[in-house]
Amino acid sequence: MNKIDDIIKRDRKIFLTTTRESYKFVADHGKGDYVYDINNKRYIDFSSFISVYNLGVNGNAEIRNAIKRQVDRLTHSAFTDYYSELPVLFGESLIKMFPSGFGRMFLSNSGTEANEAAVKFSKIFTKRPYVLSFYNGFHGRTMGSLGLTASHSVQRAHFGPFPNVIHAPYPYPYRCLFNKGDHKCGSDYIDYIKDYVFAKEADPSEIAAIVFEPIQGEGGYIVPPREFVTGIRKLASQHGITLIADEVQSGYMRTGKFLALDNFGVHADIYTMAKSIGGGLPMGATITRSSLGDIPHGSHANTFGGNHLVVAAAHASLRYLQKNRRSLESGVHRKSGKIFKRLEEMKERYGIIGDVRGMGLMIGVEFVKDRKTKERAAKEREKILDYSFNKGLLMLPCGDSSIRLIPPITIKEGALEKGLDIFEEAVKEFS
Ligand SMILES: Cc1ncc(COP(=O)(O)O)c(C=O)c1O
Repeated sequence: MNKIDDIIKRDRKIFLTTTRESYKFVADHGKGDYVYDINNKRYIDFSSFISVYNLGVNGNAEIRNAIKRQVDRLTHSAFTDYYSELPVLFGESLIKMFPSGFGRMFLSNSGTEANEAAVKFSKIFTKRPYVLSFYNGFHGRTMGSLGLTASHSVQRAHFGPFPNVIHAPYPYPYRCLFNKGDHKCGSDYIDYIKDYVFAKEADPSEIAAIVFEPIQGEGGYIVPPREFVTGIRKLASQHGITLIADEVQSGYMRTGKFLALDNFGVHADIYTMAKSIGGGLPMGATITRSSLGDIPHGSHANTFGGNHLVVAAAHASLRYLQKNRRSLESGVHRKSGKIFKRLEEMKERYGIIGDVRGMGLMIGVEFVKDRKTKERAAKEREKILDYSFNKGLLMLPCGDSSIRLIPPITIKEGALEKGLDIFEEAVKEFS
C-alpha cells in the first residue's frame, strides 16, 4: 500500500469522521501559493487551507519568525486570569482596524467560540432571550453556535433542540425565494422578518441579537443585496437589537477590505473573527462597540484566549497586513477583476456554470445541470474538484453545488493563471 493510502486508512481507523474531502490530499508543507503532499507533489492553493492562510500557506517569514521567537519566551500566560502586555499590544493594534466607537474585545480559540461569546454578550447587554439568524448561514458547530447554523441539516441532526434561535431566509439572488418584482431580491426578506418573525414568533423587544454573515461562506458564497444588509441594520437599530457580523470567513482583507461588511456601508455592533486572524494558529476574537459596556466579573472567560504563542503569530500577521495594507487591497481588487473576467468568459462557454458571484477574492461558482431549471449539479461539482486536485489544484466546495475560489490574497498572478487554467480544463471536461 502506498504511503498516502496507508495514512488515510490509519486516520479513518483512529479519528471520528469529519468533513474531509473525497480527494486524497495528505499535507506535508506549504510555501505561500503552493502546498505539498507527503510525496512532495505540488498543488496550487485555491483554498487558503479553509480561509486560514489569507497571507499564504506558511509563506510569511515575519509570522514564522515571531512564532519562533515567542516559543523561547513564554507560550501561555493564562491571560484571562493574569495580566500581560503582548495581548494588550495586539488588541490595541487590532481595534484600529475597526470603525470608530469599537473599543473592547474578547479573545478565544475558534470561530464558533467567538460567536458563542458574541451571543452571550448580546444577551447580557440586552437581557433578552431570542436570537435571529439565517438559513444557509454557518456559525460553527459547538452547541450554542450550532443553534445559529442552518446550512445543511446533517450538521444539526440529533443535536437539538436549540432553544431561542429563530431562522429567517437570507437572500440568495440566484435562487430568489420571493417573486414580487423586486429584482434585487433584498427588501422582501426584510418584510419577511417584520411580517413573520416579529409579528408571529418573537416581538423584537425580545430579540437580543441578529447574527449574520456579510457574505455567506459555507452556505454557498452568497452575496446579499445591499438593501438587505442596510435593512437588517435598520431593524436592529430601531428595536435595540445587537447586530452581530460573523466575519470569520469573510474578514481579514478577503474581499479587499478588512471587514466584508465595509463593502455595504454599514457597521455591526459586534464583529466576530477567527481563521486568518491567528496567522495560522487558532484564534477567535469578538469585538464590541464600546457603548455596549462591559460584562460582569466571572461571567465569561476561557483558558487559552490570548495565548502568547497564538498572539505572537496574530500580531506579526496584523503588523504585516497594516504595513502592506494599500498593496494588499489593490492586489485583491486587481486579481479579483482578472478572476471574474475569466469566470464570466467561462460561463459563456460552459452551460454547467449557472452563477458566478462573490467579492474580492471570496468567489463562488455554482454548477447546474440546466440553466433554465437550475437543477443543481452536485455530482459534477465533486468531479470537477477531484479532476482539479489530480491536476494539482486544491479547492473546496460550498453550498449544494458550488465551488469556492479563495486563494491566498497574496497569490502571485502566475499561480493564479495556472490555477484558473486547471479549473477551466476541469469544467470543460464535465460540461
Ligand atoms: C462564517 C463562519 N463562522 C464560524 C465558523 C466556525 O469557525 P471554527 O471552525 O473556527 O469554529 C466558520 C467556519 O468555517 C465560518 O465560516
